[in-house]
Amino acid sequence: MKNLVNIAIIGLGQIGIYLYNELRSKKKEIERKTGKKINIAAISARNRNKKRRFQIQKNIFFKKPIQIFRDKKIDVLFECIGQSDGISKKIVETALKNKIHVITPNKALIAKHGDRLAKLAEKNNVNLEFEASVAGGIPILRTIKEGLATNKIDKVYGILNGTTNYILSEMENSNENFNKVLQKAQQLGYAEPGNPKLDLNGFDAFAKVRILSALSFNTKISKHKCIMQGIENIDLKDIKIAGQLGLRVKLLGISQIINNRLFETVHPCLVSKNTYIGNVNGVMNAVIIEGKPIGESVLQGEGAGPGPTSSSLLSDLLSILRGNIKYPFGLSSKKRKSLKSFNNDNYTNSLYLRFEVNDKQGVLSLITNRLAKYKISVKRIIQTPDKKNKKATIVIITHKTSEKNASNCLTIFRKNKNILRAPTLIRLYN
Ligand SMILES: NC(=O)c1ccc[n+]([C@@H]2O[C@H](COP(=O)([O-])OP(=O)(O)OC[C@H]3O[C@@H](n4cnc5c(N)ncnc54)[C@H](OP(=O)(O)O)[C@@H]3O)[C@@H](O)[C@H]2O)c1
Repeated sequence: MKNLVNIAIIGLGQIGIYLYNELRSKKKEIERKTGKKINIAAISARNRNKKRRFQIQKNIFFKKPIQIFRDKKIDVLFECIGQSDGISKKIVETALKNKIHVITPNKALIAKHGDRLAKLAEKNNVNLEFEASVAGGIPILRTIKEGLATNKIDKVYGILNGTTNYILSEMENSNENFNKVLQKAQQLGYAEPGNPKLDLNGFDAFAKVRILSALSFNTKISKHKCIMQGIENIDLKDIKIAGQLGLRVKLLGISQIINNRLFETVHPCLVSKNTYIGNVNGVMNAVIIEGKPIGESVLQGEGAGPGPTSSSLLSDLLSILRGNIKYPFGLSSKKRKSLKSFNNDNYTNSLYLRFEVNDKQGVLSLITNRLAKYKISVKRIIQTPDKKNKKATIVIITHKTSEKNASNCLTIFRKNKNILRAPTLIRLYN
């Protein structure tokens, strides 16, 4: 690579504008560490006149990012728009075809098109780097690709979404309900003001699970149908009852190999307050890797926000400037295989089941009899009557049962007039 490196930043939102400022202020340090001078040659966003956190040089601003490929000679392009398709995909493809290195924090794009884009990067002998797409500032992808390169990883899991972890922690701390705490998260900039759905429903964490699986197990990005649940149905009541049982609710992303098959999932879990993962609170993320011979490795840090995300984007840049031309997924695309998926029906957990019922004789036995019919054995029952309204909350902790069994059994309860709503199910982390 030549000594003066031309850079383009596409997207000047929360991440792009912070990165722009970091690149400008760290030019000297980057040169000292890599021997390369950097020059921000082009920037692009939708609105040229929007007020931004840092002032931009308008003479290098492009309203249409595609124009940059015609007018400028770019060496490294940062895609910071964030779409899974559309303009983000077009920009990345065009850059790679033009032998431009690409760096992106866009997990939606990588989880959906990462395999094809990796092939394109390999064909054109340039890098496609996406460290910032998983767990913000935690250098988890590089750790798997390089630091743990010869380990056989069996499982990677953790808290991969800071928004949901903040909401769950804050509900416990403040005793406030989901909607109140979501508003707080939006005011603090931890949740998107307009549409926080993709964080709350588990989609964001799931994209990260797919990327982690591909890197950890040297496989193609899976397209399997998986169990994906978010935290929208977690009630303050569940958090309080869990607390009394010495448990905490956490949204976990899990990827593991079971009997040579790939199992990926995102769902709320009850974890013991005495465990490491049970004490990762607020906006923190944590990723735990289990492998041989390394054993268990834990990485924790801030999982989102412009500062941590830029830290990862810059580490990708320095890797490129130092001349590390690598396969995007650590292994040639030709050598990455697809793995068959583990049958979700056979996923087995102890369950927390909360029933809201009419406080009538026979309702508890109706529930336990139905559970027994499906061979779901009960470990613990907590019944809290609401005498004034003649209602009651019944919480049952079960022994381990399969996903299929649980779902067949629970559907039946929806039809009973004394069971006031579909029971809440939270899996206990094994
Ligand atoms: N925010 C975080 O904490 C975080 C953490 C990790 C990863 N990420 C990832 O980083 C990426 C960017 O996130 P963000 O929070 O910075 O998003 P954002 O604040 O919504 O910014 C998106 C930017 O893209 C620009 N844009 C949209 N359409 C465009 C087009 N057709 N041509 C040129 N520019 C266009 C917007 O322009 P205008 O400004 O003119 O509207 C805006 O500057 C996403 O992939 C996200 O998943 C974000």
